[in-house]
Amino acid sequence: SKSELEARVQGVKERMGKRLFLPGHHYQKDEVIQFADARGDSLKLAQLSAENQEAEAIVFCGVHFMAETADILTKQDQTVYLPDMRAGCSMADMADLQQTERAWEALMDRFDDTILPLTYVNSTAAIKAFVGKHSGATVTSSNAEKMVRWAFTQKERILFLPDQHLGRNTAFNLGIPLEYMAVWDPLMEELIHECPLEEVKVILWKGHCSVHENFTTANVKQVRDQYPDMKIIVHPECRREVVALADEAGSTNYIIQKIQAAPAGSAWAIGTEMNLVNRIIADHPDKYIISLNPNMCPCLTMNRIDLPHLAWCLETIEKGEPHNSIEVRAAIADNAKKALARMLERA
Ligand code: 13P
Ligand code: SF4
Repeated sequence: SKSELEARVQGVKERMGKRLFLPGHHYQKDEVIQFADARGDSLKLAQLSAENQEAEAIVFCGVHFMAETADILTKQDQTVYLPDMRAGCSMADMADLQQTERAWEALMDRFDDTILPLTYVNSTAAIKAFVGKHSGATVTSSNAEKMVRWAFTQKERILFLPDQHLGRNTAFNLGIPLEYMAVWDPLMEELIHECPLEEVKVILWKGHCSVHENFTTANVKQVRDQYPDMKIIVHPECRREVVALADEAGSTNYIIQKIQAAPAGSAWAIGTEMNLVNRIIADHPDKYIISLNPNMCPCLTMNRIDLPHLAWCLETIEKGEPHNSIEVRAAIADNAKKALARMLERA
């Protein structure tokens, strides 16, 4: 039963104390996040993992790329675990290393040595390593503008992996016109561009988040028609046209803070992951809040971390027979760390 599972999780947490650290991403289910020692967005969880010096076991309640990042940033004698190894990320899977290497070769041919690669942290460790090796950096949705601005102090143009929407929305906010942004299609291995090649400033990898792509301009129109006074706030993983029509766009943290600071009685439609939207609704009974898409969108892979997996994972660790450790190979970790460090020193 649920209460029995909760008691098992609580028991291991009490017995292991500070030897255990349990970070949880805001998209996690309530049944899991209630046990998190720290909650955060991708940036905060990466920072906390890097800072934690005492836990020997870090049980990451989030998805695979976040656990990899935690492993890269923690010390040798700290082990990171993912309660369910199937908790991947469809966006991260949209850029694999072979595809990226082939794209890089083709782009270098066309643009000489004028491109700096950036990758959203929502990417595999292998992609972070590729980017780190080529003098680039990671970004999160909280610091994407700052990092893209930095990238342009280094090179004339950027390759932004793997989320075309975050890349496009970020570059647009920095004043780069849409026609100067090209899209690299990794399946067709072709560059789709409107302006002459030499004017291309941003090359967007053709990847997306299957959760945030579900928010459409039709959803925005529906809300505008039905609730003329309602404010619309969305995550920058949403399509450009949705962000353009929204009142506000920002990272997970930005959305949470914006709603917290909003006056009682204000009305909001939020375009982001369902578990987080439901939690924001529950935390603000004095505000009228709905999901921008009435057919709410959970992140299915985030949801794979549930109470049974968490209890099982914790107990195997306590017994000294652990499963599901995330260990990034040293050759990859070293280069990925360079990409992460270039971000963290500016975050
Ligand atoms: P942030 O936590 O950086 O807002 O990213 C959202 C997300 O999609 C995490 O998978
Ligand atoms: Fe990946 Fe999107 Fe889920 Fe985040 S919300 S883990 S980007 S699929």
